[in-house]
Amino acid sequence: MLLNVGDYERDAERVLDPGAFGYFAGGSGDELTLRDNIEAFERRQLRPRVLVDVSEIATGTTVLGREAAMPVLVAPTAFQRLAHPDGEVAVARAAAAAGTVMCQSTLSSMTPAELARAAPGASLWFQLYWSSDRGFTAELLASVAEAGFEAVVFTVDLPAAGRRERDLRAAFALPDDLALPNIPGSLGRRDFHAELGQIVDTTLTWRDLEWLRETCPLPVVLKGILSSEDALLAAEHGAAGVVVSNHGGRQLDGVAASLDALPEVVEAVGERVEVLMDGGVRRGTDVLKALALGARAVLVGRPIIWGLAVDGEAGVREVLALLRAELALGLTLLGCRSPAEITGAHVKAK
Ligand SMILES: Cc1cc2nc3c(=O)[nH]c(=O)nc-3n(C[C@H](O)[C@H](O)[C@H](O)COP(=O)(O)O)c2cc1C
Repeated sequence: MLLNVGDYERDAERVLDPGAFGYFAGGSGDELTLRDNIEAFERRQLRPRVLVDVSEIATGTTVLGREAAMPVLVAPTAFQRLAHPDGEVAVARAAAAAGTVMCQSTLSSMTPAELARAAPGASLWFQLYWSSDRGFTAELLASVAEAGFEAVVFTVDLPAAGRRERDLRAAFALPDDLALPNIPGSLGRRDFHAELGQIVDTTLTWRDLEWLRETCPLPVVLKGILSSEDALLAAEHGAAGVVVSNHGGRQLDGVAASLDALPEVVEAVGERVEVLMDGGVRRGTDVLKALALGARAVLVGRPIIWGLAVDGEAGVREVLALLRAELALGLTLLGCRSPAEITGAHVKAK
């Protein structure tokens, strides 16, 4: 029986080959941050209010000025065709059906234009790995805007890929026929993490954000912010939003759980830019905690992959539907009629 995200993870482990499952599930180093992302939610408790009229509950919100059916967005994850042959198309269609945003990874198997065509009506953001080939990046950004995407999510926590020991132990390699049209040149199949680090421009600094904002008319969201200092710099350099994220525990091991880093970022820039978070969200009640700590919305990475692996588009739809149902029930029991009514008083440390 598939009642929750954990059930989908268990079934995904059954259907995926062990190397691919390890790639999706794993983190870097000792996986301290990977585990802490989950445990941080366990360290918080909800504080419900009672005798509130909860006869009508709405899960909708706005993100970057656009309506979303719930404050749960689809995080960018690479190589979705490893989970299911329908890959990114299945995810984009499921997100559209759920009325929420899908963020397409640079490391996906189709171009932004192809994805937009395959999933009409989807609300799409594009996640950028910024390569040292500036001309290529400029053309990619132009194609993103041209294809009707609504935002660019610039991932800033990957000047080099974290060391993913599960992949090394399993000698995990990408299949030869996996297309990666959004990077210049090709990516080695066995050593792809190391090569990805070589594609990303490691000379980038805050000053380069100006080029990005001049080159691309879309709002820019910086993903991978873990400190108030960087959040302030992001706001000063014109970011429309930040994602408090440690890349799902896959980059620098030993950094704070995203939920623990969230309050300082909200305090620093919450009035000026939209603060999103991702990492470890597995339940509707996790969404409540993140919102109570000041997030506008959360993104989910692995839960989407598990749904995709188990049942393609239908599986992703189901995962998004069950998160929404858990969120609606959670709002009811918390005494909030909508995400907008959640405040800091609805959560406390354990
Ligand atoms: C298999 C996998 C691939 C990922 N690929 C990307 C990527 O291409 N770009 C990116 O910015 N983040 C990537 N991420 C990080 C996610 O966007 C997100 O930060 C993270 O998965 C959230 O944590 P969660 O999986 O616990 O929900 C990836 C994460 C996973 C698990």
